[in-house]
Amino acid sequence: MTLEAIRYRAGSLQILNQLLLPRETVYEEIRSVQDGYEAIKSMKVRGAPAIAIVGCLSLAVELRAGAGGDDPVSFIRESLCHLTSARPTAVNMGRAARELMEFTENESMEKGGEQLRESVIGWIEEMLERDVNDNRKIGNYGAQHILSGVPRDSVTILTHCNTGSLATAGYGTALGVVRSLHALGRLKRVYCTETRPYNQGARLTAYEAVAEGFPATLITDSMAALAMREKGITAVVVGADRVVANGDTANKVGTYQLAIAAKHHGIPFYVAAPSTSCDLSLESGRDIVIEERPPEELTSINGVPVAAPVCIDVWNPAFDVTPHQLITGGIITELGVFLPSELQAALTGRLTAL
Ligand code: MRU
Repeated sequence: MTLEAIRYRAGSLQILNQLLLPRETVYEEIRSVQDGYEAIKSMKVRGAPAIAIVGCLSLAVELRAGAGGDDPVSFIRESLCHLTSARPTAVNMGRAARELMEFTENESMEKGGEQLRESVIGWIEEMLERDVNDNRKIGNYGAQHILSGVPRDSVTILTHCNTGSLATAGYGTALGVVRSLHALGRLKRVYCTETRPYNQGARLTAYEAVAEGFPATLITDSMAALAMREKGITAVVVGADRVVANGDTANKVGTYQLAIAAKHHGIPFYVAAPSTSCDLSLESGRDIVIEERPPEELTSINGVPVAAPVCIDVWNPAFDVTPHQLITGGIITELGVFLPSELQAALTGRLTAL
């Protein structure tokens, strides 16, 4: 069984409400850009690639219904701007918005109204297929790279947050590497961190791992260093919300401390991300805007208070930045596996896959 976060057919978009998982499986209709924005902002849909895909598909749904009239360009521009503002750290939506706007402007030189809408919808619909294909390549490259260090053994992976089918159009990035290892019969076990405060690991990755039949063990974030010492972890593999030019990587808060612990234990640390999560316009991780989430997401779980007293000051950054020096295994992309220092050349076509 493969989980589907996004269900789309021409003119109709449904998303799996991830706030309700694992207790309930409820698909919700997204009828407009505003519905898409709210689903992203409230984290009903989350994960950098899924955010961009749902955002753009919400636009496709409105365009299919005739939004923008005879001159859809301004509607498309305003919609993309609104969608990009929902969550600032993941670059995928901003990048898709830039590319789609460029495409729209070029197309609008020859087309208008219905014809232009159709072209833009076509561009958006291709995102779904492209993302799954890229993820399969990431899974394959990542698995081969990890296995090349242990030619005969099966491997134990530690991962963080949720980077699977629920965070993408399908297959997953870091969890896609786990999926590929499992398909090759070489996955001994995957350790998933709970991922406080929002529990994407406990609620979503554990759910996916069980649904897919991966041998998996759930641990709290505070057990990760101990697991590295005691449980024979072969590699740590995480996803990314934004990888910048020098390889510094923003990902779910807690990633940075995993990278430090991995370095201490001599365990290779990998980032798995499509090139759509890379942002060469920023030099270093210091330039990345880190989203801060409301205090209630830390002081309560599913509405049940877990912190007392509830009036305590709360700092709740959703992401942290792992410096490139700690990404010792490499950055796994659909183009191959690269060291952080090779990333720019790889993405600009000056370096080919390992
Ligand atoms: O706050 P979230 O759940 O959107 O954060 C998700 C992550 O940090 C993922 O690791 C990242 O987006 C990559 S998902 C393939």
